[in-house]
Amino acid sequence: MTNVLVLGANGKIAKLATIQLLADQNNRLTLFLRNSQRLADAANDRVKVVDGDAAKEADLTAAMAGIDAVYANLAGSNIEDEAKAVVAAMDASGLKRLIWISTLGIYDEVPGAFGKWNHQMLDGGYLQTYAAAAKVIEDSDLDYTIVRPAWLSNKNEVAYETTQKGEPFKGTEVSRKSIAALVAKLVAAPTKAIRESLGVNKPNTDGDKPAWIK
Ligand SMILES: NC(=O)c1ccc[n+]([C@@H]2O[C@H](COP(=O)([O-])OP(=O)(O)OC[C@H]3O[C@@H](n4cnc5c(N)ncnc54)[C@H](OP(=O)(O)O)[C@@H]3O)[C@@H](O)[C@H]2O)c1
Repeated sequence: MTNVLVLGANGKIAKLATIQLLADQNNRLTLFLRNSQRLADAANDRVKVVDGDAAKEADLTAAMAGIDAVYANLAGSNIEDEAKAVVAAMDASGLKRLIWISTLGIYDEVPGAFGKWNHQMLDGGYLQTYAAAAKVIEDSDLDYTIVRPAWLSNKNEVAYETTQKGEPFKGTEVSRKSIAALVAKLVAAPTKAIRESLGVNKPNTDGDKPAWIK
């Protein structure tokens, strides 16, 4: 059995990942979110639902008993504080494996006209705070995988490729369902992609902007 703690479990990717993680009978989930009554119906013999704020170390530590892997699908202008709280709680709980959803552009790795447009869209706080949060994770001694999705679509498809930190980002878009599939794959292979930061895009989507933006 693998016990997975899903942080920000009401998030759009997290809900898709929950479905894919539960398709593997080996997984048991703890869904961690604010206002947990929103997911009360999801509880069953393999799913526990707990209330908590991911910026509060004590909430996280309380949820980490018996956990094997943490999947953080968080957001917000305080994401650096959330990263600090997650690292501190994992250290205190003796946990190592963390899958952390971030964003494209945190290393200024998006080339060309799309990279310029991405800066125009995401500068002014978002990229800087997500970069700071990723640095907190990378400076820890956790077995992390940072996931940097391209612009997210809700397409009902799994189609993705990855790039490593240090390589130029590829493509412009990727489906949330693809990121969920990658998360499930990483949970199933706990020794893979350790201390890696993966850019994730749909193949053959290079362009100046995501296709749906005119
Ligand atoms: N949109 C894009 O094109 C794009 C591209 C690349 C990366 N990303 C990033 O990818 C991440 C995941 O995407 P998504 O679509 O799944 O986002 P989402 O639906 O906004 O999910 C993020 C979740 O984080 C939760 N959260 C935030 N702060 C929390 C806290 N302190 N404690 C507990 N939960 C907290 C939110 O909970 P509440 O429901 O309580 O607010 C929300 O459910 C986001 O960080 C997003 O910015 C987005």
